[in-house]
Amino acid sequence: MTPYVADPVYLNGRFLPLAEAGISPLDRGFLYGDGVYEVIPVYSRRAFRIDEHVKRLQATLDGIKLANPLTADGWKEVIAKLIETAPWDDQSIYLQVTRGADDKRDHAFPPASVPSTAFAFASPLVTTPAEVRARGVAAITVPDLRWSRCDLKVISLLANVLARQQAVEQGCAEALLIRDRFMKEGAASNIFIVKDGLLLAPPKTHLMLPGITYDVILELAATHQQALEVREISETELRSADEVWMTSSTKEILAITTLDGQPVGTGKPGPFGEQMWQWYQDFKNTVMRKG
Ligand code: PDD
Repeated sequence: MTPYVADPVYLNGRFLPLAEAGISPLDRGFLYGDGVYEVIPVYSRRAFRIDEHVKRLQATLDGIKLANPLTADGWKEVIAKLIETAPWDDQSIYLQVTRGADDKRDHAFPPASVPSTAFAFASPLVTTPAEVRARGVAAITVPDLRWSRCDLKVISLLANVLARQQAVEQGCAEALLIRDRFMKEGAASNIFIVKDGLLLAPPKTHLMLPGITYDVILELAATHQQALEVREISETELRSADEVWMTSSTKEILAITTLDGQPVGTGKPGPFGEQMWQWYQDFKNTVMRKG
């Protein structure tokens, strides 16, 4: 077991130690990045919004025309077993399905007789340290070089990888992706902005991943009657925002306080982001942890 992967892992119908989990080097995930994935946070050994994650997995599989190797209940059983056997109460479940290994290399799909590869494992949930949260993080903007189906959670993540690496090399936590002068999302997160007390969220289109955390934030804004508009956010609006947040299953809600070296608003996490973080924690501790 590595410090961040629990034994056993799941591979193609079996639970086995990571060290014994092998796949063919001809796997299309390896050769083409031909596959899909999900990341599901687990709080107090309860998988958060599991139905929504399993549904998004199905939508992505449908989007790339790959049959689901398991039913929704089948996935839930796999996830339950991983959660139960992992040593941590708060976890992150990673799962991946690829188009399997053919006996030759051909871009087109292999015959239907070639089984897909399904892999899943549990890791400890890595949370943002309080001092990082208190000061917020820095981000850069980069051109969005991804393809046109960013709504699919596919493993071909090279454009995201390069964008995030560019951020890291500049001492930043995230890269915000700009396409045709509009901000779509982060390399591995959704982005919200606040301007004059109004929360703005980009709409779910084929150019943005429909985040599960994004949905929770829209729900919390509605529950607390917070003014919210879902519409495209221009690069100009992004640069003049009072607050910018990134959201994801693992980052939850994190203030971006510097953008391309310039302070966002006051340069400190803003009051609305703090409020939303608190609502999110309350929701997590009541609804998520206690189910
Ligand atoms: N990333 N947008 C992109 C491009 C992402 O990769 C992610 C999540 C999100 C947020 O989605 P959610 O709220 O469902 O986590 C938005 C995961 C955590 C990852 O790739 O590790």
